[in-house]
Amino acid sequence: MDKAKRKAIIAGNWKMNKTPSEATALLNQITPLVSDADCEVIACVPYVDIAAAIEATKGTNVKIGAENCHWAESGAFTGEISTGMLKELGVEYVVLGHSERRQYFGETDETVNKRTKAALAAGLKPIVCVGELLWERECDITEEVIARQIKLDLWDVTEDELKNVVIAYEPVWAIGTGKTATADQAEEVCAFIRAQLAKLYNQAAADGVTIQYGGSMNDGNADELLSKVNVDGGLIGGASLVAEKFAAIVKAASK
Ligand code: PGA
Repeated sequence: MDKAKRKAIIAGNWKMNKTPSEATALLNQITPLVSDADCEVIACVPYVDIAAAIEATKGTNVKIGAENCHWAESGAFTGEISTGMLKELGVEYVVLGHSERRQYFGETDETVNKRTKAALAAGLKPIVCVGELLWERECDITEEVIARQIKLDLWDVTEDELKNVVIAYEPVWAIGTGKTATADQAEEVCAFIRAQLAKLYNQAAADGVTIQYGGSMNDGNADELLSKVNVDGGLIGGASLVAEKFAAIVKAASK
């Protein structure tokens, strides 16, 4: 399967930015700029912004995602949000295993796997984030790290469920640092991820998975990154908060 047959997906990851009214204002700027996009466009927003974001994107081609979800349907998990809560609001995607959650909030491959399974069972499409630390790259164990994350994060995910999984390759050293992986570095790891998926499932299943690059992707480097055969989209942090920049990345993915 060639790249053109895979779904290109550009997703904004707003992180802990924008209040509900600010979210509405930003989405009102974004939606007209991306209305003719030839790729999937998603804004993953803070939980409290979701209702406003769904309202602001009604009737547009912009879909709304969350930035995490819990694996239990309900219960004594103070501060957590269930898949059912997200579904009821109209959320379609959910970012899971982001390096900031792994780094600051004790997320492990085991919990990423539980969340991924729960999201899929609820009909949400997980954007599962993997990526190596700078130290791991310097020690030349990038492939070991990625292989482990892919295997554990997708443990027990069926081939049928895999059709609804998006993988985001985000080298931790490139996130929010202004240091982008070169297009060749991004391609190398995205191709490695696809090879791992082929090993765990089969080539056809692996060929159908959208693999995004994330880490300081912006309007200046998106064209080159997205020109790579295994880079099917982007997970965008900083640049997703500026309508023109985000729209330019969407345009690059629509070519
Ligand atoms: P960045 O963030 O684009 O600001 O580097 C990417 C991400 O964390 O998903």
